[in-house]
Amino acid sequence: MTAIQSVVVVGLGYIGLPTAAILATHGLDVTGVDVNSNTVEAVNRGAVPFVEPDLEVHVAGAVQQGRLQATTLTPSADAFIVAVPTPFGDHHEADLSYIRAAAESIAPVLKGGELIVLESTSPPGATRMMSDLILRLRPDLTLEPNRAESIYVAHCPERVLPGRVMIELVTNDRIIGGLNGESSQRAKELYSRFCKGAIHLTDSLTAEMAKLVENSYRDVNIAFANELSMISDDLNIDVWRLIELANHHPRVNILQPGPGVGGHCIAVDPWFIVAAAPERANLIRAARQVNDSKPAYVTKRVMDKAQRFLEPRIAVLGLAFKPDIDDLRESPAREIVNDLALKLPTASIFAVEPHVQKLPPELEALPNVSLRDLHSAVDDADIVVLLVDHTQNKDFARNLLNEKIVIDTKGVWR
Ligand SMILES: NC(=O)c1ccc[n+]([C@@H]2O[C@H](COP(=O)([O-])OP(=O)(O)OC[C@H]3O[C@@H](n4cnc5c(N)ncnc54)[C@H](O)[C@@H]3O)[C@@H](O)[C@H]2O)c1
Repeated sequence: MTAIQSVVVVGLGYIGLPTAAILATHGLDVTGVDVNSNTVEAVNRGAVPFVEPDLEVHVAGAVQQGRLQATTLTPSADAFIVAVPTPFGDHHEADLSYIRAAAESIAPVLKGGELIVLESTSPPGATRMMSDLILRLRPDLTLEPNRAESIYVAHCPERVLPGRVMIELVTNDRIIGGLNGESSQRAKELYSRFCKGAIHLTDSLTAEMAKLVENSYRDVNIAFANELSMISDDLNIDVWRLIELANHHPRVNILQPGPGVGGHCIAVDPWFIVAAAPERANLIRAARQVNDSKPAYVTKRVMDKAQRFLEPRIAVLGLAFKPDIDDLRESPAREIVNDLALKLPTASIFAVEPHVQKLPPELEALPNVSLRDLHSAVDDADIVVLLVDHTQNKDFARNLLNEKIVIDTKGVWR
């Protein structure tokens, strides 16, 4: 079998574009495919349509060297990496339509011998589903290895941390689960080109579950901290001090509470397990419910404080789902700002998010929400609510808050 030389990455978002860039800077010929022509156009200019440290340098360098290009039409290649969204639907079940669309775009260009890796976070069985779909569309191909018409299919979940993607892509361990041993081996060969971490081989079902379990583990532990924070408020004790003290136990390591859990991973992936095992996944479901209830709890706390003002002015610091990034997806902060604006129509809400130029559409549409810079927002506010521990919020001079009512959901100004 010849070594993989050309790779197509389907989906040029937060995961696909860094992966495409890192493969290209490690000597592979990479084509990025995206349905969004603005993204394609940006990548071909060497630009990155979102914020991720060091990514632009990689993309610009790879494009300049002729190793990376982008297009809306899937070309043929030795390997395909699918990194399209996997959101959940109305009943928290995984929406696999993007994976299906990606598979449908790949199937016609296959010649036999290709590796197809699903990187999207997927419910158990999605890799098999993708493979079945491709084989239905291309009955001339087979999963039986080592034949001219063989294809190789694997799942390789991604666990990079936004903000550190270009480092963690290289340093993190990877899990690869092939539909057969040959698929795992072939995928390992590809990822070894840039991954310095250990590569662990397993089957596709276990690989799919591993990613979901990692995020569910985080979600359950954060839910514990969030539940503690609400109990502590009722008991009138400082949850941060409580956790600090409890963590002196040599085998206790409680996480920090916050305004809720956001992003498209921890807030989403546990539901895929709940959907796969609704009778069994009681703890996982309860954790989701605790974390999902936290934004409404924070909103209520702010509203209680706002009662004393006829026209409260509220500075809300942070809209992203975690510090120092521009990703607002599934962000509890965004939900809190939206709720506050709707429930307090006489209030002025000053949203402070240094990583975006404009408000997301649902906030933009609200007459009492504006995007402000940190100092002017705090200056003009009666109430300051810290929702995201962005560096600029952590560094904010505490003495400027002296006259304000402060609600600090991240405990950074203690
Ligand atoms: N962002 C993260 O930190 C992260 C971490 C681990 C895993 N994941 C998983 O990786 C997957 C991708 O996430 P993301 O954050 O990169 O999403 P994203 O929304 O940033 O990017 C997805 C891209 O795919 C494109 N796309 C959609 N359908 C397509 C199709 N049929 N063909 C070509 N392009 C298509 C979109 O236009 C978009 O540019 C998801 O399953 C996500 O859960 C994300």
